Amino acid sequence: HQHERDSQFILSDFAKDFYQHNLHNHEQGQSIGLPYLKERGLSLNTIKKFELGYSLEAWDGLTKAAQEKGFQEKFLEKTGLTIFKEDGKKYDRFRARVMFPIHNISGRTIGFGARTLKTNDKSTPKYLNSPESEIYHKSDVLYGMFQAKQAIRMADVCYMTEGYLDVISLHQGGIENVVASSGTSLTENQVKLISRYTKNITVLYDGDAAGIKASLRGTDIILEAGLNVDVVIFPPGEDPDSYIRKVGDNAFREYIKNEAKDFISFKTELFVREAKDNPVKKAEAIREIVQSIAKIPDSIKRSVFLQRCSNLFGIDEQVLISEYNKIALQEN
Ligand code: CTP
Ligand code: MN
Ligand code: MN
Ligand code: MN
Ligand code: MN
Repeated sequence: HQHERDSQFILSDFAKDFYQHNLHNHEQGQSIGLPYLKERGLSLNTIKKFELGYSLEAWDGLTKAAQEKGFQEKFLEKTGLTIFKEDGKKYDRFRARVMFPIHNISGRTIGFGARTLKTNDKSTPKYLNSPESEIYHKSDVLYGMFQAKQAIRMADVCYMTEGYLDVISLHQGGIENVVASSGTSLTENQVKLISRYTKNITVLYDGDAAGIKASLRGTDIILEAGLNVDVVIFPPGEDPDSYIRKVGDNAFREYIKNEAKDFISFKTELFVREAKDNPVKKAEAIREIVQSIAKIPDSIKRSVFLQRCSNLFGIDEQVLISEYNKIALQEN
């Protein structure tokens, strides 16, 4: 039902305005929410550009306001903004958190990410997110795409980060061609969305084990979709947000320019780092790279990369091709 979806869009938009109003005008937003965001280096301009908000330390702040406006419970439940218990009790899903509205490609609010301010409290997840709904399909959405799409087209490359603050900090630093997969692993649909604007993606995940693992998986998804992929690894413990704040806009740009590696170099460095002269490890590394090459749909690109791999490792190209053929056979 289109009108049911419309009601959910309108309610989400109302919630976005409500949270935004709380951040800027409510005592709690002014004394807790805004100082937190400023502490993290965000300017008022940036905060407004991304329509950031604050959810009150209250059980029914949003629910009550929405019902007073005449929004039906059905839609509060469907959008996940209100949680309904079996005993009839209901309460706001998002409480005492900084709110990041998630927009669809045309700028309508479809969901929220919500960060706790209690950084050291392990009893509550750092981020809460809207559940799946008729208007919000996590695996189809990239955070920041609405704000980034023109810049992605202009730069002819899309920077792929993990998180909300990565996108927002880079924007503030003048780098606007950036989106986030928001913690979830990259999907084919997300890559397809990017491919409307550019065929080039540079992965800028966090400089930790999880980030490197996600980069490995992400590169394969991107290659499979027929796009080109580079990877930048950040120093241990840094993510794009922390790193741009640490080194500044210009040094950050330089870092990306100098550190971006195509998937072969990325994987080679990663696997060969330990492999050194260990022939078994080296063979594993080569197999790993050939597996990625096998994912590329374009046969000319595939053969160029096989050639490169052959030069890099000093291995006869025919050997790589027969290994490739084995993998291709398994996969079909
Ligand atoms: N994430 C999530 N739920 C969590 C943790 C993370 O949905 N419990 C998503 C969020 O979209 C988050 C992204 O994964 O932005 C990356 O996670 P992480 O690197 O842990 O957070 P940061 O974005 O770096 O946030 P912060 O700098 O505030 O710690
Ligand atoms: Mn749908
Ligand atoms: Mn992380
Ligand atoms: Mn991070
Ligand atoms: Mn971070």
